[in-house]
Amino acid sequence: MVPEPMSDALKNWFYFLTGAVFLFLARVKHTIYGYSTPKPYSVEQLDRCIAYDIKVVDEWLERLYGYLPAAGRGGFLTGKRVLELGPGSDLGVGLYLLSMGIEEYNAVDVNDLVESASDEFYERFIAYLRDNFDGVDPSFLKRELARTRSGDNGRLNYVCRPDFDIVQALGSRKIDIIFSQAAFEHFDDIDKTIQDISRVAAKDAIAVVLIDLQTHSRWIKDKDPNNIYRYPKWFYDLFHFRGIPNRARPYQYKESFQKHGWRDIVIEPASVLSSDMRGFMNGHYSKEFGCDRNQMEYLSVWLCATKA
Ligand SMILES: C[S@@+](CC[C@H](N)C(=O)[O-])C[C@H]1O[C@@H](n2cnc3c(N)ncnc32)[C@H](O)[C@@H]1O
Repeated sequence: MVPEPMSDALKNWFYFLTGAVFLFLARVKHTIYGYSTPKPYSVEQLDRCIAYDIKVVDEWLERLYGYLPAAGRGGFLTGKRVLELGPGSDLGVGLYLLSMGIEEYNAVDVNDLVESASDEFYERFIAYLRDNFDGVDPSFLKRELARTRSGDNGRLNYVCRPDFDIVQALGSRKIDIIFSQAAFEHFDDIDKTIQDISRVAAKDAIAVVLIDLQTHSRWIKDKDPNNIYRYPKWFYDLFHFRGIPNRARPYQYKESFQKHGWRDIVIEPASVLSSDMRGFMNGHYSKEFGCDRNQMEYLSVWLCATKA
C-alpha cells in the first residue's frame, strides 16, 4: 500500500475534527430552533422556491419516464393517486401535480413546515402555473389549497404526524405513485417507512425517490461531502437529534424494498464523489462504511421500484 502523503493525513485530521464541531453545532441548532430549514435558502425567496418545486417535479417525471418508458407516452398521470414523503416548506409540488391531472396528492411529514409558506407564495405559484402551462384551472387549485389550509383535506391532502405513521395518515386511501425528494435520509427508521408505504401502495405502484446521502452541514458538505461517514456509530449517536442524516446506504434501501415486496428496484447515482476525493478518503471511513457494498462514491441516488 502506498503511504498517504503527510499533507493529506493532516487534512483528513482537520476534516475529522471540523466535522465533529459541525455535528455539535447541528445538535445545538436543532435544540434551539427544531427542524427549521428544509431548503438551503429562505422561504421568502419566492421565485427561487417556485423554480425549485417545478424542477423537483420535472426531474421526478423524467426519472419515472426513464424507468417506465410506457408512462412517458402521455396521459400516465391522469387519475393517479400520489404520495409525497417529506414535502418540506410548501405545497407547490402538490399544486403542480394536481394541475397535470392527478387524482389526488397526499403528503406526510413530521414537521409542519408548510405553515411557513405565505399567501403571496401560493398566489405567485398558481399564477406561474396558469401563465406557463395549458389547461391549468387556478380556481380549482385555490379551492383545494384553501381546503387543505383550513384542515379539510380533499385532493390536496397534507398530513403532519409526529409519529410519521403513514398508514394511519392515509386511512383507506391507496397510492399509485410515491415521490420523495431529499427526505428519506432523515427518516428515523427507513425499514418501517418502507413497510408503511408498501401497505398503502396499490399493486404496480411506482416509487421514485431521490436520496441525498451526503453530509448536510453546509460549509463542510462542499469540502468533504462524506464527512459524516468518518465517525463510528457510538460517536455519531452522541449528536443525535430527530432528522439527523441516518447514514443508511443504498444497499440497505434495496434490501428493505425487496423485503417489503417491491420488484425491479433500480438504484442509480445522481451525483458521485470526485476521483480525487475517493483517493483522499481511502482508509478514513469508519469501519462500518469501509467495505465496497457501501458504495461510498455515491453522494446521492435515485431509487425506482415497482410494488409487486
Ligand atoms: C431536506 S427536507 C426536503 C424537503 C423537500 N422534499 C425539498 O426537497 O425541499 C427533509 C424533509 O424530511 C422531513 N423530515 C425530517 N426529519 C424527519 C423524520 N425524522 N421523519 C420524517 N420526516 C422527516 C422534513 O420535515 C422535510 O420535509
